Amino acid sequence: MKEDYFKYQAQTSSHPLALEISHAKGSYIYDTKGRAHLDFVAGVSALSLGHCHPRVVNAIQDQVQKYMHVMVYGEYIQEPAVAYTKLLASLLPAPLETTYLVNSGTEAIEGALKLARRFTGRSQILSAKNAYHGNTMGSLSIMGYEERKSAFRPLIPDVGFIRFNSEEDLLKITERTAGVVLETIQGGAGFILPENGYLKKVRERCTAMGAMLILDEIQPGFGRTGKLFAFEHYDCVPDILVIGKGMAGGMPVGAFVASHHMMQSLIENPKLGHITTFGGNPVIAAACLATLQEITESKLIQESLEKEALFRKLLQHPLIKEIRGKGLMLALIMEKPEVANEVILKCAEKGLILFWLLFEPNAIRISPPLTINNQEISLGCALILEVLNGLKQ
Ligand SMILES: Cc1ncc(COP(=O)(O)O)c(C=O)c1O
Repeated sequence: MKEDYFKYQAQTSSHPLALEISHAKGSYIYDTKGRAHLDFVAGVSALSLGHCHPRVVNAIQDQVQKYMHVMVYGEYIQEPAVAYTKLLASLLPAPLETTYLVNSGTEAIEGALKLARRFTGRSQILSAKNAYHGNTMGSLSIMGYEERKSAFRPLIPDVGFIRFNSEEDLLKITERTAGVVLETIQGGAGFILPENGYLKKVRERCTAMGAMLILDEIQPGFGRTGKLFAFEHYDCVPDILVIGKGMAGGMPVGAFVASHHMMQSLIENPKLGHITTFGGNPVIAAACLATLQEITESKLIQESLEKEALFRKLLQHPLIKEIRGKGLMLALIMEKPEVANEVILKCAEKGLILFWLLFEPNAIRISPPLTINNQEISLGCALILEVLNGLKQ
């Protein structure tokens, strides 16, 4: 299968991990040789409930028996999407009440950018240095990392950058600005938390200038940081919330949420201002509903902070300079990229899945399923320490 994989499937890098998958359950992925791999990455924060959670699997199976795709988004009333968006609205603060369901995180960002421009009638978009919001042209344009995007220029015009956590740079938000897009917690940059009331200050400046604040919660969302959404930690409600990854228990999805009034602007001038064939797909929406119900009806959100404490307690080692992040979105910061790299690859050999961060070469990603248990955390951390001790000698 490996040869065919390299020949027929387009690659993203010259050195993929190339684990050959047989099946996955809970916190483990099993390869075709029958070996179990403990998953500390959760499909890069997408598997909030672990692999093949029974509630999600049942919801999908029930829905495929009834109907799958029946019509493009926005024409027919389909119960899974209605029930899901209603439940989500009940869990969000005003004015976040109306959800537009799409197929991926980057597509949700595209929708949010269009909505901000259409609603304000302005064009400038500001985002943060080292930001990652996806890989389609709009998302790429607001990526704050030149090296990864210059080959694809020209990108969308009227995009500027501010430094995350810089109060001084907030003056760049003006009456020309349609929207300011920020990750609530910067992911690819190295799990950077907002500091000193930063997001509240961004909120205030956006309000004063009439600019839309767009928060990308694609990574921290759905309970990973000890709240359903990370912005709840920071006394700041966005105008547009962008979500994805962990919202459908491992199925492909994204969404942007705003006030009903703002969303109405996508209906006219031009008509059909944003359309999609598969957005709101009933099977995916059923998975979203089951995932959200499980996350909110269980103790998983509060437990994510207890599990963070266990990781921090266990992962003490002279080679780990710092542990960044919040809840189950943690990054071990090593002294050099070579060390991070070696730990990731050696742990993979020992059956523990870790991963890199996009723009912070010293980091090792730990973003396990929220359902991971203490025994699995201890087992994985012991493997990391074993590898680190091996490096020291
Ligand atoms: C913060 C953030 N925004 C947007 C995206 C893009 O999501 P997707 O890969 O589903 O398009 C990602 C994906 O890693 C992300 O981490």
